[in-house]
Amino acid sequence: MKISKLKKEAEKELQKIFNLKDLNAWHKKYFGKKGEVSLIFSSLKEMKEKERKKKGEEVNFAKKELKELFLKKKRGLAKGTKVSAPETIDVTRPGKKVERGHLHPLTLIQREALHIFESMGFEVALGPEIETEWYNFDALNFKKNHPARDVHDTFWIDSKKRILLRTHTSPVQVRFMEKHNPPLKIVIPGRVFRNEATDSSHEADFWQLEGLMVSKEVSCSNFKAIIETFLERFFRKDVEIRLRPGYFPFTEPSFEIDAKLGKAKWLELMGAGMVHPNVFKASGLNPEDWQGFAFGVGLDRLAMIKYKIKDMRLFRQNDLRFLKQF
Ligand code: DAH
Repeated sequence: MKISKLKKEAEKELQKIFNLKDLNAWHKKYFGKKGEVSLIFSSLKEMKEKERKKKGEEVNFAKKELKELFLKKKRGLAKGTKVSAPETIDVTRPGKKVERGHLHPLTLIQREALHIFESMGFEVALGPEIETEWYNFDALNFKKNHPARDVHDTFWIDSKKRILLRTHTSPVQVRFMEKHNPPLKIVIPGRVFRNEATDSSHEADFWQLEGLMVSKEVSCSNFKAIIETFLERFFRKDVEIRLRPGYFPFTEPSFEIDAKLGKAKWLELMGAGMVHPNVFKASGLNPEDWQGFAFGVGLDRLAMIKYKIKDMRLFRQNDLRFLKQF
C-alpha cells in the first residue's frame, strides 16, 4: 500500500477513537512489530538504492506525523479524564465528622467527686502506687500476722525489701500527716491493687477515694454531715445514711456506711471511722492533741451506682460501645 493512502486511513481511524483501549489497538495496528508502517519499512529493502532513499524519507516523514498525532490524542484522552474528575465530587454532601475523644467514665467520676470535696475546703493529696509494708500496713496499725499482708491478698514486688503495690489509699494519710501539721482536710484519689480473682464486683486493679479530716475536735457528726452533703451533690438525690459498727485496724471506732439514695433500698457504700491513736503516733503526731475521721470509698462502686452499671469489669475493657455512652 502506498504510504500516503495508509496515512490518510490511519488519520481517519484516529479521529474516531475516544478511549485509551482503542488508541492502543490503533497503535499496535500501525506501529506494532507486524504493523502496517513496519511492513512498508521492510518493503523498502527490496527497492533500488535511489528509490529506497526517496521513499524512505517519505515514509519516515509520515511515520513522524502519525506518531505526533498519536501522542496528541493520548494526551487529550488523559486530560479528558482529569477534567471530568472534579465533576464527580458532590459539593453539597455533608462533610465527614471528625470524631473527638472524651474522658474515661472513671476519670469523670473522680473529677466530679474531687470537685465537690474541694468546694467543701478539702485539699487533694497523692501518694505512690508502689508502697512499703510500713506505710501500707504497719503505720496503719495492722497486726504483724494480719491476713491482708498475705501473698494471696497483696501483690508483693519485693518480699525481701517488703515492697508492694498499695492495697488501699490509706497509707497516704500517714505520708501526709508526716509532712503537714493539722488542722487538715484532704481527699486522696488513687489506684490500688489486690491479688484476687475478678468478678462483676471485684477487680485486681481499681480506684479508691480516701478522705481525712483532722483538728482539735472533729466528731462523728462532722463526718456524717460532710458525707451526706457529698453524696447528695454527687448523686443529685436526697440521701440518708446510717452507720453500722465495722472493723478497720486504723480506725477506732470503725463504721460501715450505708446510704439510701432517694427511694432506692439501702446500699453498703464505704468504710470509715475515727483515726486510731496508733496512726497519729506513726505519723509523728500526739494522739492526745488531735482527733480525726477518715473514710475510704471505691470510685468504681460510686460510678456503678451512679450509672447503674452491673459489671465493674466493663470499665477496663475499652469497648467503645460502652465508653461512648459517657
Ligand atoms: N482502706 C479501706 C479499704 O481499702 C477503706 C477505709 C476504711 C478507709 C475505713 C478509711 C477508713 O480511711 O477509715 O477497704
